[in-house]
Amino acid sequence: MPSEKFDLEKPRKYSFLAKFFHWGFIVIFGYGIYKQVDELDQLADLSLLKFEMIFAAAFLFLLIIRFIYMRRTQKSSLPTATSQTQKYAAKIVHYGMYFCLGIIAISGISIGTLYWLGFKSGLIIEGVISIHEFSFTVIYFLILIHVSAAIYHRFLGDGVWSSMVPFWNEKINRD
Ligand code: HEM
Ligand code: HEM
Repeated sequence: MPSEKFDLEKPRKYSFLAKFFHWGFIVIFGYGIYKQVDELDQLADLSLLKFEMIFAAAFLFLLIIRFIYMRRTQKSSLPTATSQTQKYAAKIVHYGMYFCLGIIAISGISIGTLYWLGFKSGLIIEGVISIHEFSFTVIYFLILIHVSAAIYHRFLGDGVWSSMVPFWNEKINRD
């Protein structure tokens, strides 16, 4: 019998579009990492520079659309009884991932613009490249926390995992 803790609360599910954005973004982000620029001098190839810029602009545009859609229409699937600390922690990680993804695209576009304007070496472009690279260190760390938390919730069986992940779904246990 369900305890008072979770009452008879129905687990929340993300919409099809929310799931599409979540998983689609992982594919786009994975592709971005796979085809990454290995050296600044590669940008001398104008068609590569153009492609990188269009890719990063489209990435940023989709990220903003996703963010607006998620904030306006969806709610976290954490059970209402979750501690305030845990809710804040989840929020920090989620917003942190959005922030890092945004910085990755904006710093990438800035690198391309600086290079195109003739700033091919020096403190400014090297500083922006450092920001671009540091954002990856941070986001890999956040993704590690995020995926570990998702797996932890799968073992708790509270429906958080199944609200977003289409496989290894559990019998919801919010007792
Ligand atoms: C296999 C890997 C992944 C799993 C199993 C997973 C699982 C989940 C789950 C269960 C939620 C719902 C959490 C809740 O309602 O509080 C969620 C939300 C979220 N995930 Fe993931 N995730 C994965 C990878 C990623 C990656 C790589 C990113 C970012 C690059 C990401 C970004 C987000 C964000 C930002 C949210 C909050 C909802 C939103 O605004 O879209 N996830 N994920
Ligand atoms: C969302 C789009 C982008 C993604 C996912 C991405 C991905 C990456 C990754 C994974 C790295 C390696 C980071 C590291 O070593 O820690 C990197 C480095 C770099 N990226 Fe991007 N990037 C993007 C946009 C851009 C754009 C638009 C440009 C410029 C036109 C650019 C230029 C560079 C440069 C110059 C480096 C440093 C290469 C070096 O080590 O010298 N990136 N990027």
